[in-house]
Amino acid sequence: MPLMTTKPMFDLAYGGGFAIGAFNVNNMEIIQGIVDAAKEERAPLILQISKGARQYANIKYLRGLINVAVEDSGDLPIAIHLDHGDTVALCKECVDDGFTSIMVDASHNPFDENIRITKEVVDYCHPRGVTVEAELGQLGGIEEHVVGVDDVMKHLTDPTQVAEFWKRTGCDSLAVAIGTSHGAYKFKSEPKLALERVEEIMKTAPGFPLVMHGSSSVPRELTDEINRYGGKMPNTMGVPESAIGRAARLGVCKVNIDTDLRLALTAKIRKVFTESPGEFDPRKYLGPGRDAIRELVRHKLHVLGVAGKAAAVIARWKELGSPVPAYYQK
Ligand code: G3H
Ligand code: 13P
Ligand code: ZN
Repeated sequence: MPLMTTKPMFDLAYGGGFAIGAFNVNNMEIIQGIVDAAKEERAPLILQISKGARQYANIKYLRGLINVAVEDSGDLPIAIHLDHGDTVALCKECVDDGFTSIMVDASHNPFDENIRITKEVVDYCHPRGVTVEAELGQLGGIEEHVVGVDDVMKHLTDPTQVAEFWKRTGCDSLAVAIGTSHGAYKFKSEPKLALERVEEIMKTAPGFPLVMHGSSSVPRELTDEINRYGGKMPNTMGVPESAIGRAARLGVCKVNIDTDLRLALTAKIRKVFTESPGEFDPRKYLGPGRDAIRELVRHKLHVLGVAGKAAAVIARWKELGSPVPAYYQK
């Protein structure tokens, strides 16, 4: 089965009470851990690549690894997605590289400018059979190439703008700001999400698939393990899994997770180095890291309610006429 867009996935997730897990990939072990988990759990999957990952690993290597993963995973529905595309040029490049889904993040611009940029990307992607995620409102936190705002609660998505944004851009899904941030330090006190905004948007823009970024839970056992083995990550806080599960049941169709993968990998590497200071075989520390990612992702797929949904997504894809982006028709 070729890589597919997010459309058959979101058609089922919207109103289906589950969300697709979108996991960031940077190297072979991360890809293998995630794909093995999805295979075991029979879950459709979005593998996403940030601008930073693209530069770090060289997109040709990442694409090669994903191609093998797709071949190796039989009939598992997989989409390859650009995470936080910050320029129209980068979005176009990724379409030309065979991505099946693109996020254009122009959310830091005024409303009309966000629409203009998003529409330019949609106009490039849609004729080539590629789906587009846009963003309205702004998230907090800092990743390598994604700088967030300081006070997330002041930059939440305005539900009254969503229907107009959707109509004028024609995009396929929308990342909403509901109080989440990227990274491991999401809240200073009690985690608070504005899930009522999701409900409001579902009323004002029914049928529009919503996406939750910054959705790592930053599990205490992982940061404890990191700290136990020489790390220094105090006062971390993530989105409670109960809130992620509620969002997925409510109608959020895609949930982005990166930080938790990084924590799982880091915890295992630190453990091996502390317990075996003489270790210098990368397989001996990356291997346990890969296993930890696989188990973490298996768990997440259950939190999202997406375990076991692969067959239904394939059926929906066939119902739509088995569409693939132009890149795969060459
Ligand atoms: O949203 C950001 C993702 O976690 C990617 O982070 O830009 O450090 O690769 P990155
Ligand atoms: P986390 O940092 O919470 O994992 O969020 C990742 C993300 O939103 C990628 O776009
Ligand atoms: Zn994000």
